[in-house]
Amino acid sequence: MPDVERLLRAADTLDPVPVSVSRLLAVVSRDRWAFADVEQVISHDQALTGRLMQVANSAANAALVPIGTVRDAVIRVGVGPVLSFAMAACVGRTMRRALPEYGLSEGELWAHSVATSLAVEVVTAMSPVEVPPEAVTAGLLHDVGKLVMARFLTPEVLSAIQELRTGGSSSHQAELSVLGIDHAELGAHIARRWNAPPRIVAAVAHHHEPDRAPVDPATDAVHVANVAAKLVLAREDLPGDEALPRLGSVSRLQMPGAFLERLCRHVERRLDEVMARYDTMVADRGRQAG
Ligand SMILES: [Fe+2]
Ligand SMILES: [Fe+2]
Repeated sequence: MPDVERLLRAADTLDPVPVSVSRLLAVVSRDRWAFADVEQVISHDQALTGRLMQVANSAANAALVPIGTVRDAVIRVGVGPVLSFAMAACVGRTMRRALPEYGLSEGELWAHSVATSLAVEVVTAMSPVEVPPEAVTAGLLHDVGKLVMARFLTPEVLSAIQELRTGGSSSHQAELSVLGIDHAELGAHIARRWNAPPRIVAAVAHHHEPDRAPVDPATDAVHVANVAAKLVLAREDLPGDEALPRLGSVSRLQMPGAFLERLCRHVERRLDEVMARYDTMVADRGRQAG
């Protein structure tokens, strides 16, 4: 069996994120930040500016008056989604890969990640508790650890995991027992390496076990959103422990009654449109990279 050190070293081989994305993450994670700071970082990155203007003026967002400035674009799209789009441009292509070790065909991890980030936006709107904007990015990145973890899921490891699953363990608990680390913690390691702010790192690390994390609405929102994204995209019935968010998260976020159904309906309704927007960011980046 591979040791944890080898898994962490493998995580270090993922490409770093562009400077503008790290800067943007750093600005928004401050307690106090101004639109001018966000505007300044975006304006220094021509490609990001172009993509943002495109998103702000896309059919779904377009108002009668076209958006012409970065500041107006950020205001129209929202800071949380802007951050998440910036991140999507650099991780989207890798996250579209098939991960057969997780039973994911091409595009499935990506669709789940985009659906989770969208669900975080919806949770933010539904909850009376203030969810920080960077939670949307944490939603997009929450399963990034699977990209690296999959390389170590040999048939031998997979059968050990399956045995524990049959005995009643959840999939991340089984990973932890067999490999000494689960995809959530591995993802947090990757996010930390990308200089993601601590709230994103914590939300990624605890997306399956929010009650074990320091209390933060970002972590609770990502946990609830992950469940909703699974429910929306599930091809078959989910195991009971995956089909419902933890009560702790639900009550800390003060979610209204029967919220899960409404949340899923919102995500379902907007997923195609939001997916198309994210795909624009990824395709554009792909063209630039050649
Ligand atoms: Fe996960
Ligand atoms: Fe997930």
